[in-house]
Amino acid sequence: MKKLFIQFPVLLILIHCILTTAQSPAAAPAPPGPPNVTAILEKDGRFTIFIKLLQSTKVADNLNSQLNDSNQGLTLFAPPDSAFSSLKVGMLNSFTDDQKVDLVQFHVLPYYLPQSQFETASNPLNTQAGGSSQLLAMNVTAVGDQVNITTGETNATVSNTIYDENELVVYQVDKVLLPLRFYVPLPPPPLSPPPPKKAAPKDSPAYSAPVDSSSTKCQSRRVIHAMICVLLALAAVP
Ligand SMILES: *[C@@H]1O[C@H](CO)[C@@H](O)[C@H](O)[C@H]1NC(C)=O
Ligand SMILES: *[C@@H]1O[C@H](CO)[C@@H](O)[C@H](O)[C@H]1NC(C)=O
Ligand SMILES: *[C@@H]1O[C@H](CO)[C@@H](O)[C@H](O)[C@H]1NC(C)=O
Ligand SMILES: *[C@@H]1O[C@H](CO)[C@@H](O)[C@H](O)[C@H]1NC(C)=O
Ligand SMILES: *[C@@H]1O[C@H](CO)[C@@H](O)[C@H](O)[C@H]1NC(C)=O
Repeated sequence: MKKLFIQFPVLLILIHCILTTAQSPAAAPAPPGPPNVTAILEKDGRFTIFIKLLQSTKVADNLNSQLNDSNQGLTLFAPPDSAFSSLKVGMLNSFTDDQKVDLVQFHVLPYYLPQSQFETASNPLNTQAGGSSQLLAMNVTAVGDQVNITTGETNATVSNTIYDENELVVYQVDKVLLPLRFYVPLPPPPLSPPPPKKAAPKDSPAYSAPVDSSSTKCQSRRVIHAMICVLLALAAVP
């Protein structure tokens, strides 16, 4: 009978455990929000046209959720307004909506490429626009901190790093990067009837399933906490 009697300290530990285990999800500190691509560019002030394109094509939303959901990071090459002004008059308006999406995604690498890794990056670099399509890829050449980009249509220079934190790096480029894909005629249609139309394969990690690491981490912390509580309670039993 005496052995079954729960002593006061044991009772306290049990109450503590029940309370904290029940509370722990709400009590966990909120993780810092993911970086917001358009907010970063807005802060700089010289990227209003690129921001408008990011928003009208909805690419900004995709990039922000990609930054939240994946741990690959992102690299963004941002042309300032002056780069858009030096495009041929009417060129931007001549692009279809799909081309505008491609154009914006062509300025994105679906992973974090810090300045120090340009020299060893292996060409061509696949962009968010094109999976492994050579016509939607770019080449970089770097010597020290000088970095040039060629797309086959545009030769550009990385002028500046605007942001580099949390696996997101934003570079300023001096030109709007035009993909070769816009300028190379499509291959002639096959003689036999074409197969039913399908969306072009997009094999970037942008489309991989998100990993919800925060909630699994939280779950396992709760399990460990519960185990420690049980051990403490057992140890306190005389
Ligand atoms: C990102 O910032 C823009 C302003 O630049 C704002 O309109 C948008 O709601 C923000 N997005 C998120 C997910 O916070
Ligand atoms: C980030 O992802 C979590 C779940 O993984 C979600 O609850 C949260 O709303 C997302 N935040 C933003 C700003 O998209
Ligand atoms: C970048 O291009 C410029 C010409 O526009 C050239 O002078 C320079 O050597 C190039 N640098 C690299 C690293 O390729
Ligand atoms: C990019 O580099 C690859 C591999 O070196 C080469 O085959 C391709 O022609 C280059 N493209 C351009 C546009 O320079
Ligand atoms: C880009 O640079 C290469 C050599 O570096 C040159 O052959 C080519 O004509 C240039 N293209 C444009 C569009 O300026």
